[in-house]
Amino acid sequence: MPYRLTVLGTGYLGATHAACMAELGFDVLALDVDERKIERLRRGDLPIHEPGLEELLKRNLAAGRLRFTTSYEEVARFGDVHFICVGTPQRSDGYAADTSYLDAVVDSLAPLLDRECLVVGKSTVPVGTAERIAEKLVQLAPAGVQVELAWNPEFLREGHAVQDTLRPDRIVLGVASERAEKILREVYAPLGDVPIVVTDYATAELVKSAANAFLATKISFINAMAEVCEAAGADVTQLARALSYDERIGGRYLNPGVGFGGGCLPKDIRAFMARATELGADRAVAFLQEVDAINQRRRTRVVELARELAGGTFEGRRAAVLGAAFKPHSDDIRDSPALDVAVRIARLGGTVTVYDPVALDNARAAYPDLEYAESALEAARGADVVLLLTEWPEFAALDPDELSTVVRERNIVDGRLVLDAEAWRSAGWTYRALGRP
Ligand code: UDX
Repeated sequence: MPYRLTVLGTGYLGATHAACMAELGFDVLALDVDERKIERLRRGDLPIHEPGLEELLKRNLAAGRLRFTTSYEEVARFGDVHFICVGTPQRSDGYAADTSYLDAVVDSLAPLLDRECLVVGKSTVPVGTAERIAEKLVQLAPAGVQVELAWNPEFLREGHAVQDTLRPDRIVLGVASERAEKILREVYAPLGDVPIVVTDYATAELVKSAANAFLATKISFINAMAEVCEAAGADVTQLARALSYDERIGGRYLNPGVGFGGGCLPKDIRAFMARATELGADRAVAFLQEVDAINQRRRTRVVELARELAGGTFEGRRAAVLGAAFKPHSDDIRDSPALDVAVRIARLGGTVTVYDPVALDNARAAYPDLEYAESALEAARGADVVLLLTEWPEFAALDPDELSTVVRERNIVDGRLVLDAEAWRSAGWTYRALGRP
């Protein structure tokens, strides 16, 4: 009998994991405490934008392999393997991660676990959390030591979540027994030949923190080089290209611009600093403070460039912000550099109109005071300065001549370095970018 799987939490991670596991042929029951979200998922109506995921959801609902519930009792009865996929956002009172959703899941589920099963944490957590949760499970579960914990961090990128889940680079299993390892190897066997690293809880938790710290550092490194390029009159796009041919360096996560945002990298590097400090290893990750600071400075610099182009002030000026999502192919606006810049310009007296192909509803709900448009051209109508802040392919393909017909002044800040500077300049635009002359 194949294992019956449950997924707790149906956000970007949980919804993807549930649909992908069903796609692999498992019977999956997914839970969320948000009844409206569960209602939508039951109808095959995906509450988020994630390429390819809605098809997977519909197909597996129709096949009867994927179901949704709000009942922990049903989950406890059904599951042999329970995947915890809830968020661990930054706490409001500091850098540390807020693990209260994780604890809430364990407090609700564990007292109902009256038979042998495996609980698998996928959420990103401060190292040491798994150890604590494992003890709590054994204490609270009627089945006691028959309920085991494994830690299996998730590395999916939003916008590529389905592909990353069905074709992962690697699988990391933090386990305390051979039995747990065997179960998880069987669960992931349909993925084929994927490198699997089997380790202890603490290492598994740390792999995720280290991976995100490395990626954030790489992005901030190239953005630091952009600052130096600006000071020296050099071009960071050519610098990055030249670096990328060195296989030891590689070109991925080396795209300069307004920097990283989203629900993971920013809060994960802060949570890592907070946890390392608790462990007395603060010096080891002190550089992440600088990584964070470089990233924040990029946003400030974009605002400065736009203000210069607008004639030194935003008072009485209109700015068009192209992009609201923290990255293309996603509707996630958590810590979005684009919206942060939009809000800063509005605070400085500018009128800001935002356009994004998929994130407008989320942006409107979070920032009702900004103006919104239904297309890039509409957003740019009457603008004194246009800012490209999320690298959606449709923005990279914008025609400078067409945009010229709607703006008041031909000023553009390329916050993601995706436009052809020469083409825009020869169409009469004043083109500015981070790290380019
Ligand atoms: C990230 C990790 O990549 C993923 O492995 C982990 O599981 C969760 O966190 P995600 O937040 O979906 O994934 O986004 P990612 O594609 O990594 O991009 C993060 C941010 O960095 C975006 O704002 C993006 O625009 C920015 N970025 C990325 C750059 O500014 N330059 C780059 O070269 C790459």
